[in-house]
Amino acid sequence: MSEELIPETPEQETEENEAAEPIKQRKNGLYPGVSDELAENMKSGWADTELHDLAPIPQAEHTAARRAALSARFPGERLVIPAGNLKTRSNDTEYAFRASTEYAYLTGDQTQDGVLVLESTGEQGHQATIYLLPRSNRENGEFWLDGQGELWVGRRHSLTEAEQLLGIPAKDVRELAAALAEATGPVRCVRGHDASIEAALTDKVTAERDEELRVYLSEARLVKDAFEISELEKACDATARGFEDVVKSLDKAEATSERFIEGTFFLRARIEGNDIGYGSICAAGPHATTLHWVRNDGAVRPGELLLLDAGVETNDLYTADVTRTLPINGTFSPLQRKIYDAVYEAQEAGIAAVKPGAAFRDFHDASQRVLAEKLVEWGLLGDLTVEKVLELGLQRRWTLHGTGHMLGMDVHDCAVARTEAYVDGILEPGVCLTVEPGLYFQADDLTVPEEYRGIGVRIEDDILVTEDGNRNLSDKLPRRADEVEAWMARLKG
Ligand code: GLY
Ligand code: MN
Ligand code: MN
Repeated sequence: MSEELIPETPEQETEENEAAEPIKQRKNGLYPGVSDELAENMKSGWADTELHDLAPIPQAEHTAARRAALSARFPGERLVIPAGNLKTRSNDTEYAFRASTEYAYLTGDQTQDGVLVLESTGEQGHQATIYLLPRSNRENGEFWLDGQGELWVGRRHSLTEAEQLLGIPAKDVRELAAALAEATGPVRCVRGHDASIEAALTDKVTAERDEELRVYLSEARLVKDAFEISELEKACDATARGFEDVVKSLDKAEATSERFIEGTFFLRARIEGNDIGYGSICAAGPHATTLHWVRNDGAVRPGELLLLDAGVETNDLYTADVTRTLPINGTFSPLQRKIYDAVYEAQEAGIAAVKPGAAFRDFHDASQRVLAEKLVEWGLLGDLTVEKVLELGLQRRWTLHGTGHMLGMDVHDCAVARTEAYVDGILEPGVCLTVEPGLYFQADDLTVPEEYRGIGVRIEDDILVTEDGNRNLSDKLPRRADEVEAWMARLKG
């Protein structure tokens, strides 16, 4: 879309008198065709659309509790958590915006350029302020002449509306960088999201102290609160419907390519949620042995397997991460079923090891043991015992990856948590993780019989640790081979 009246995005203004200056004069000559009469005409005749008495967003109490915990961890310090900015895709078009996980977790907001600041109030802890772009100025033409004007990108909340919705006092973000540059006292910032905020803080922060903040916010998300658990349930339920959509349209994928599967699942993700939580892996036939196959441009052939690893991200940015390996024609061949059953058994052993008090590593070890046993039983590891295989890690030629990871707002959630809190940690109620063993026989692997080559199987579910064990959030999708076949037969009609 282009239009000769549309200017380049004006530089950000920080001075109030500049912000009030008419844009068409300020940019001197960039707005041909905007007569004084038109500029004057566009200023008025617009209804007052301010919304009043807005109810807080459903997670407002939870975000307040998360901010209180953050405040207690960093007393006396100013904390700066940016949402991030739009990223250019090409020329004047941008990628879809996805707010930083840290910002959305602490505010429930997802507005580009937003920044949460926790200002120390000494003994009392912190005062939170959310900095946002306010509604567009109509007096200076910003609302229709600026690329980020509301006439182009849609109405924003007024700062007063945002305060009511989020339960956080709101201010104009255009004032923030200058204020931060002048501020004194200890400060930490979550890096990697907003270069202009980082530039304003450049001589006040250190990488090491900023990293401590990022690590804290990663570890804070290890145990999910009630809102987060309900979001993960929602994500898993929508994902199950997306998998059903795919099965129902497998004939169309056979007539086209893996792209049909990708598009089918994406449609569900956009209808029920915000997006997919990560690039869908729609891997048919030998592509299933490529762990992150996201090109999705291959043929879908009856008689082969489809490994589909996909997750819906909810509108509040929690994602599922689910894999099913499906016989494209609806029935596993004997060899496909043998390999599938081995992975299923490994997953069962892994899921059984997920409980409060267990080590995070336990479910991985349990799954790997089953897979090693199968590989030895099938004669793929010569005369070696299972114990020797596990000691040397030789099963990994075909199991390839860790058996799971934390899940939440990020598909690989809590990724910068310290080893002692995550990989070497102990599970507790509220932790949510994936259990996803797999076996992958590469098409060019000469160490396995020819008929194994090009077969890849993964089964992945999202498991919540409960008080007395665990709950499989993605159990709306069948896992056992016979149940998978019956489910596919029903859906394919
Ligand atoms: N979808 C990526 C993973 O399973 O970790
Ligand atoms: Mn996955
Ligand atoms: Mn996963």
